[in-house]
Amino acid sequence: MALKLVHLHKSYPAQGGAKPVKVLENLELELEPQQSLAIIGQSGSGKSTLLSLIAGLDRPDQGQVILGGQDLTQLNQRALSLYRAKNLGIVFQQFHLMPHLTALENVALPLELLRRSNPKREAQKMLDAVGLGERLGHFPGHLSGGECQRVAIARALVVKPSLLLADEPTGNLDEKTGQSLSHLLFELAESQKMTLLLVTHNKELAKACKTCLSLSEGALHVV
Ligand SMILES: Nc1ncnc2c1ncn2[C@@H]1O[C@H](COP(=O)(O)OP(=O)(O)O)[C@@H](O)[C@H]1O
Ligand SMILES: [Mg+2]
Repeated sequence: MALKLVHLHKSYPAQGGAKPVKVLENLELELEPQQSLAIIGQSGSGKSTLLSLIAGLDRPDQGQVILGGQDLTQLNQRALSLYRAKNLGIVFQQFHLMPHLTALENVALPLELLRRSNPKREAQKMLDAVGLGERLGHFPGHLSGGECQRVAIARALVVKPSLLLADEPTGNLDEKTGQSLSHLLFELAESQKMTLLLVTHNKELAKACKTCLSLSEGALHVV
């Protein structure tokens, strides 16, 4: 799915007498379908803010977020949630798994919300694909960090999204686990013909992407 960001502005309101924080200023981006883009940048430069705008989890102050021709800023909350569930996969640094659900139930959940057929069977296939076929009944608390991130990747990919957004997906993992997860991510992205947008500090992961841009002073720059 193609992604286009037009004149994007985002600031956070002043808190406790401090000035408002201008995070994104006139940010522009065009990403072709099935491309991979890595975004790097210092802590606090606005990378997570940018991802949350692209995911429609937050709204820009000004500008457009156009995904597959649809401007997300024009959708109401309900339409936005549905659009996100159908088209986007999101992987967070902290996994954000449901602690009271098993690995299988976590991955089946988005399919159940979308009323797809055979949620458990599809979830099992996806967990097999990420190498966790033997951990279906485990709760997140009984899985390692790398295993939790694989469950999170399976959950993001099980709906076959057109765009996968990942915010420092290997940030909480050791180097080796991080590497095998990035291989997995690229393999699955290719086989499912997804567009990939990663925020990462991991040089290997950034290098594996077709394009790498750096976020600083509110905008994206060629590295
Ligand atoms: N909800 C919020 N309210 C106020 N300020 C925020 C909020 N979220 C982020 N910020 C500020 O916006 C800036 C960018 O944050 P963030 O997007 O998380 O950066 P990064 O992901 O690149 O580390 C930081 O200075 C942060 O303090
Ligand atoms: Mg961040």
